[in-house]
Amino acid sequence: MNVNFCDIQVTKYREKLTIIPIELHWSRRTSSNGFCNDTWKRLLKRIESDPNCRVVFVGDLIDDDRPSMRAKKAVIYADSDRQSAREEADNDHRDRLDKYLIPDLKRIKDKIIGMVDGDHFRIYANGMTSTQYIAAVLKIPKAYLGERMGWIKLSFRRKKDSTTMDIFLRHGRGGTGAFGNDVNALIRQNQGFIADLYIGGHTHKQWFIKVPHLYCGRADIKQKLVGYARAGSLLRGFMYGKTTYAEIAEYNPLSIGCPEINIHLIRGDKKNNGNLYIEDMTGLT
Ligand SMILES: [Fe+2]
Repeated sequence: MNVNFCDIQVTKYREKLTIIPIELHWSRRTSSNGFCNDTWKRLLKRIESDPNCRVVFVGDLIDDDRPSMRAKKAVIYADSDRQSAREEADNDHRDRLDKYLIPDLKRIKDKIIGMVDGDHFRIYANGMTSTQYIAAVLKIPKAYLGERMGWIKLSFRRKKDSTTMDIFLRHGRGGTGAFGNDVNALIRQNQGFIADLYIGGHTHKQWFIKVPHLYCGRADIKQKLVGYARAGSLLRGFMYGKTTYAEIAEYNPLSIGCPEINIHLIRGDKKNNGNLYIEDMTGLT
């Protein structure tokens, strides 16, 4: 588990920063897993064109080995004479990432502030995960927070004032279930981890909510907002005329895409000592 400390310069009286959580499930297969390449290309353009947005990858960046498959491969490659075969398979895998996914991610690399592995990823013979490898090639190693979770500390800085915001990013666990259960599960799983915004993935549901919290100020009662969001995914799930994994597993249909979380910053009035603060959080799904 790591923390990525990020400085963001604020120049205006009011400023909006958009956080975009993505559970990509990238692969070159467009039928068996239903990866929406067109949606991904549109999303890349949207991120590229907005200087006031930042991206977090909540895990399952690639539609690769799940934990059970990694365990089976560990048995297959356990014999020392299979080591070179494993290294060759690793090289082929990295070559594919270098050729297809990494050029896409290079376009938005300066906006990526957090990445975790999740469930679907590779562990190479050298101990590095595929997510870690991608972050290293993009030259953003600090954006890799760990296998499942980590913090991103945003420091918004103006000339004379500043404010901070902590994001806790986790992949998430558990079944999909009803919509309300999904919200409750994310809130429950994050008890004990202090942050202003909690972002999860895994269930492929897509939503944002904010919860007001009251606290005692120096001379009055104040309020701060705590946000919760799930990332959705870029998997189509069900496809006309084809049998997909979602159909075989009898999943529920889920929305494709990702939410957008807007952080509204404003310079405070005299009551707030003129300090920059977070006025509101709004979400689009
Ligand atoms: Fe996933």
